[in-house]
Amino acid sequence: MASQVRGAQLARLLGQWHALPGRRRSPDYAALAGAVRGLLADGRLPLGVRLPAERDLAEALRISRTTVTAAYRELRDSGHLSSRRGAGSWTRLPGTHRVAPNGLWIPLDDRDMIDLGVAALAAPPELLPAAQAATEDLPRYLGGAGYHPTGIIELREAVAQGYTDRGLPTSPDQIMVTNGTQHALDLVLRLALAPGGGVLVESPSYPNALAALAARRARITTHGLAADATGWDADLMLGSLRQVRPRVAYLIPDFQNPTGHLMAAELRERLVTTAHAVGTDLVIDESFVDLPLDGTTLPPPTASFDRHSRVVSIGGMSKPFWGGLRIGWIRASAPQVQRLAAARVGVDMSSPVLDQLVAVHLLAAAPGIVAARRTQLAAQRDALLDALADRLPEWRVTVPRGGVTLWAELDGPISSALARATEEVGVRLAPGPRFGLDGTLERFLRLPFTLPAADLVEAVGRIAAVRYDLDRTGLPRWREPSVIA
Ligand SMILES: Cc1ncc(COP(=O)(O)O)c(C=O)c1O
Repeated sequence: MASQVRGAQLARLLGQWHALPGRRRSPDYAALAGAVRGLLADGRLPLGVRLPAERDLAEALRISRTTVTAAYRELRDSGHLSSRRGAGSWTRLPGTHRVAPNGLWIPLDDRDMIDLGVAALAAPPELLPAAQAATEDLPRYLGGAGYHPTGIIELREAVAQGYTDRGLPTSPDQIMVTNGTQHALDLVLRLALAPGGGVLVESPSYPNALAALAARRARITTHGLAADATGWDADLMLGSLRQVRPRVAYLIPDFQNPTGHLMAAELRERLVTTAHAVGTDLVIDESFVDLPLDGTTLPPPTASFDRHSRVVSIGGMSKPFWGGLRIGWIRASAPQVQRLAAARVGVDMSSPVLDQLVAVHLLAAAPGIVAARRTQLAAQRDALLDALADRLPEWRVTVPRGGVTLWAELDGPISSALARATEEVGVRLAPGPRFGLDGTLERFLRLPFTLPAADLVEAVGRIAAVRYDLDRTGLPRWREPSVIA
């Protein structure tokens, strides 16, 4: 986003700002200030951005300038805005906030918060023994300088074997170890996408991937996923590829984040054929590929249909094992891996040897660890589904057959208002618009099932209470334009 936001842009981001729970009891200016704080907290309004002049925003929102003046004053008082007379007002955050792993700004003291903004599990019990075993292996590496831009050979072998076991023969020189999947995506984009290049992504998609694309100033085209189990519309998606001919398509075919959809084998094959025909590179994010639930059979890896090095697969340890390990990887052709390694030297040189050794030990124990994760996730998902059916029966959910999230269709365009309200009752939510680009998706909410079942049930109870409070205080609706005085 630019360093200045215009009235019409902010009005679009604010959406139905007047639909906050308790609205009837609080004046317009307080609701407006609350809505701006909400945008800042969930990262849709960046820090250091100049807000529109009061008159401009008043016109865009069709409210009186006095209301905007009062809202800006309240934001200044709460530490969310700094103003210089005659120059403007810039967004900021009070010193009592920090940045959370999901990029959201949160208060420093939030220990009692049930955080449904992060879709990741706590570490498995096997992590500590793996770390201890890794320290015993470390002396073998201490005689060298420790820089391995593509990763230590033991880990590359283990990762390559994982692909081979999935039916995609892979040699270690096709693997580059990275500091997580997000890092893998960033490196691949550096190589594949010139600034301003065209990219096709799913909508909704993973917010941090959208952030990586924004950093490349990518020109983004979206393919809208259906909310029901069908997911991708083959004709529409392949049609977009043929028409737009983007340089890159970034897709998550295996239990897509946030929807949980699984792309069928036939579409994977057609996707690869079409991408090759139009000159698009496919970046396939396999973050959740190890987490099918209910005995779901996985289709072949997307790259198994590739004959022309069009597909770069990225994945990592964060979802099946632990995010804190920061180990991910890229699977590409051997020459591509060499080019990535050369690019990496200008970024972070290589990944920590000790962490890679921990990963080697975890992968050796993967079948047992991952089986336990799947059992745990299925039970937590079912507890979440039961709680939703019980407390929020109007919401529609498609049962995900894998991954760690479900994508709920709400009974109104209330996602951001709900997220702001649940923050007050100790539940952090990532509202639907965070998974898109244009402030839409207000009818949707991503709910991860990575926390213990009791927390999920408690969270749904709190969400439901706030949801019905929203009803009592009036359903979202557009206000009548008021006179600008
Ligand atoms: C689709 C997707 N890609 C990448 C990531 C980032 O993973 P990592 O922790 O390995 O960087 C996530 C994490 O939530 C994800 O959901």
